[in-house]
Amino acid sequence: MTSPFPQTYPRTRLRRLRVAPWVRNLAGENSLSPSDLIWSMVVHDGDEPKTAVGSMPDLYRLNVAEAAKAAKRAQALSIPAIAIFPHINPGRKDETGSEALNPDGLIPTAIKAMKDAAPDVGIICDVALDPFTSHGHDGLINEDGYVLNDETSELLVAQALVQAEAGVDVVAPSDMMDGRVGAVRDALENGGFRNTMILSYAAKYASSFYGPYRDAVGSATALKGDKKTYQQNPANSDEALREVAMDIEEGADMVMVKPGLPYLDIVRRVSETFAVPTIAFQVSGEYAQIKAAGAKGWIDADKVMLETLMSFKRAGASGIITYFAEDAARKLGA
Ligand code: PBG
Repeated sequence: MTSPFPQTYPRTRLRRLRVAPWVRNLAGENSLSPSDLIWSMVVHDGDEPKTAVGSMPDLYRLNVAEAAKAAKRAQALSIPAIAIFPHINPGRKDETGSEALNPDGLIPTAIKAMKDAAPDVGIICDVALDPFTSHGHDGLINEDGYVLNDETSELLVAQALVQAEAGVDVVAPSDMMDGRVGAVRDALENGGFRNTMILSYAAKYASSFYGPYRDAVGSATALKGDKKTYQQNPANSDEALREVAMDIEEGADMVMVKPGLPYLDIVRRVSETFAVPTIAFQVSGEYAQIKAAGAKGWIDADKVMLETLMSFKRAGASGIITYFAEDAARKLGA
């Protein structure tokens, strides 16, 4: 916005407001704190301790006991919430992703253990079938490999109810089927889960920045083809507003834009257009880029991490899902 007053040199010297840290802080338009962060965490269903993910340095898949300990650390660091993603034994995957509906499966077990360990930390779970299907798609496929919308939606409802039974605070449909937010909302209302929130992956793009995540949850080798028939075309912006509008209408409490940094324009449009909390997801490929360039000594990874997180706030995000959450919270001096 241009000032109504003329700003002419030398009466105006914008550098005056940059002369010392105290005034830079005082005049700062946005701030970043641990309470802005959602910790993106990968859990695995084995007993072995944390396992490394090749394409995501310093990111480990945790077993359930380790995830519960991490939840305690989140609580101590004032990180408000954790989003958990499952890596299951490939032997448990099938065509329909049936393990997603197992009430004694990895996700319900992890939810219970983490809520027990750290009741004040919100737990968020993806609702989508891709970590559980042998083909790596987010839903049921027909003989042509096309992901079926309404049939998938029914399974997502069942998956969300399993998570709600286990005590999840927020279900986060990440599958991009049409109409699934409304179906999940109705089922939660009817099932007595009135306060279970829905964070919809509303504007989720068919992005190549998800590569390392698919490695982390073990769906990369399985995935045949791409997800362009359900995730959004990266060329589009108006379409994101339609997606968000529909999800809010269907009962989403919060909406997400994903990936993050390459889609800050969408974060800005969504947060300006709709009066609901807008969450940005700094995805695995964004994390990997920063880590890789940092390891080569080409950038200062810690500073770039904090700069990118602040840029989400500047764009209007109320929260950021990030693999850097623990690291960033420590650097921010919780
Ligand atoms: C699954 C899902 C994906 C991510 C979160 N949930 C991958 C995908 O849609 O293929 C990506 C997370 C990341 O890259 O960090 N529906």
